[in-house]
Amino acid sequence: MRRVFFGLLALMACEATPPGDDPRANPRDAAKVSLGAKVYAQHCALCHGANLEGQPNWRQALPNGRLPAPPHDESGHTWHHPDDVLFGITKIGLVPPYAPVGYQSDMPAFTGKLADDEIWAVLSYIKSRWTSADVLSARAEMLQNRPRR
Ligand code: HEC
Repeated sequence: MRRVFFGLLALMACEATPPGDDPRANPRDAAKVSLGAKVYAQHCALCHGANLEGQPNWRQALPNGRLPAPPHDESGHTWHHPDDVLFGITKIGLVPPYAPVGYQSDMPAFTGKLADDEIWAVLSYIKSRWTSADVLSARAEMLQNRPRR
């Protein structure tokens, strides 16, 4: 009886998704990652770079005051954000609650252009490119410490 109980606990612990990680953005789902790579090439690569490298000098504002597209690889700050925030930014763009009212940005909203499943697929692909132990543990720690809503 005891053994069954502990076995169950272990199972539950394995299946729990860490806070901030959404099972729909799954870098280990090969089908999702491959769909995501296609969506990325078609809809994101133009600005964020074919290899997720972002635009040159992406930390520096352009003459028009807007920011260039940041990398989505480990050198950027995309991995600092929980999955639901990445989903929201991709779907509705950098508007409240993701940016201040009136914020001017070149990041388009993909509502009406991409289905939710395609957005989760592209996030799965982007996440599949975060592989270094440093980034993965820093991200896990950040998500763990995220204030709960
Ligand atoms: C027309 C250019 C353009 C395209 C196309 C584009 N983006 Fe962006 N994206 C930007 C720019 C510019 C920013 C930074 C904007 C800012 O900070 O004001 C950005 C920011 C982001 C951010 C926030 C990153 C962070 O670390 O804060 C995410 C997430 C993002 N883009 C996802 C995507 C995805 C996914 C696609 C494809 C489905 C995509 N973008 C397509 C220009 C683009």
